[in-house]
Amino acid sequence: MVAYKSKMVERIRLPARNQRERNLEAAGYNLFNLSSDDVFVDLLTDSGTGAMSDAQWAALIRGDESYAGSRSFAELEDAVMDVMGFSNVVPTHQGRGAENVLYGTLLSADDVALNNTHFDTTRAHVSNQGADPVDCPVAVAHDPDSEEPFKGNFSLERARAVVDEVGANQIPLVIQTITNNSAAGQAVSVENTRRVREFANEIDATFVIDACRFAENAYFVRQREDEFSEATIADIAREQLGYADALVMSGKKDGLVNAGGFVATDDDALFDRCKQRAILYEGFPTYGGMAGRDVAAMAVGLREAVDEAYLEDRIEQVREFGARLAAAGLPVYTPTSGHAVYLDAGALFPHLDPEEFPGQALVCELYREGGVRGVELGSFAFPDTDRPELVRLAVPRRTYHREHFEHVVETAETVLEKRETVTGLELASDPAMPEIRHFTAELEPRSS
Ligand code: F0G
Repeated sequence: MVAYKSKMVERIRLPARNQRERNLEAAGYNLFNLSSDDVFVDLLTDSGTGAMSDAQWAALIRGDESYAGSRSFAELEDAVMDVMGFSNVVPTHQGRGAENVLYGTLLSADDVALNNTHFDTTRAHVSNQGADPVDCPVAVAHDPDSEEPFKGNFSLERARAVVDEVGANQIPLVIQTITNNSAAGQAVSVENTRRVREFANEIDATFVIDACRFAENAYFVRQREDEFSEATIADIAREQLGYADALVMSGKKDGLVNAGGFVATDDDALFDRCKQRAILYEGFPTYGGMAGRDVAAMAVGLREAVDEAYLEDRIEQVREFGARLAAAGLPVYTPTSGHAVYLDAGALFPHLDPEEFPGQALVCELYREGGVRGVELGSFAFPDTDRPELVRLAVPRRTYHREHFEHVVETAETVLEKRETVTGLELASDPAMPEIRHFTAELEPRSS
């Protein structure tokens, strides 16, 4: 059931078709290069793109901008304790700031970090320490059609194989990302979190949960894990997060804010080390790169994220969007995640080879036909991996309505009708940093 009404609006416009064609060409067929004014429905990311509540705007005005000892930070500490169950908080400017603080503290050269799937910035921060990020997804994560409830789980089998190969001493860090963004945003069960906790104990590693979408994950746990069918979201969230030694959090997701993040831990020694590093990279540990007002808004947002009515509205909106796309005949990854619908461009364009970037071709067609912006997560973003050719249509929180999704579905139907005529793309520029080429590289339609 819908849980909101609007009290502020932002005008959006759909540029004419010939203008969209010109915009695509000028952007080098890379939608990161578009001006947002030229985008009608923006599903590039759910990160920092949501709408804040009236309570958050009120908190913003009362934000305390003191350099040290800010009252707004005390509010954040209380919220993190109540919602997530951790006593020590190191605020940072966003999630990757938290990754730098925590992983920079925990990792040294030649270490190995295990994760169900490393998100791009997580992988980059692990590598930046000279350590090796190794993914341990369950096999079914890469099957777009399987209806398994917890395709985001961490594979203990794979993790143990890595231990056999490199030795437990090499692995000081085990991370579990909930939901598993880089594996189609799939849910992680509490049972799996318990097993990972035990595994971390066995190998004497620190267990970190990447909690960006912890509330959305808790909703799926209640729906799908028998033990929790009667539990509250708040109880599930605290139970699952409570198995970790520390959390990294991007407030731009389930913190329901446009900026901010933090590290949280009950380990006082780790807290002290993180604070030292945070002072270097983020700011004094009672603001950490955020304005006091943003800290205040995040304190309120964290509490709203576990509100039952909010979450039902949120998850049902994304589920319904996915169901409409599937009903229209689009190949939709199942089950639908909490923050995005993922389309399988490989299945949509079987005539395109991976080196013709079928996902990027789909992203371009959605813009050409309807001014919709999604993001490619296939062979353009992740060269040399065997991932499916996914396109993510991420849903900003509390932002779009049924009409917007109807427009996206109609746009996708148009692309479906002309699927056989869609041609592939090729690189037109050689980016300086190949690992993150999808943010900047230019492409062009394939000539042959
Ligand atoms: N961890 C996960 C699982 C994420 O999804 C993100 C960001 C981060 C860490 C980094 O947080 O952006 O606040 O620095 N994901 C965004 C996305 C960018 O579009 O999925 P950040």
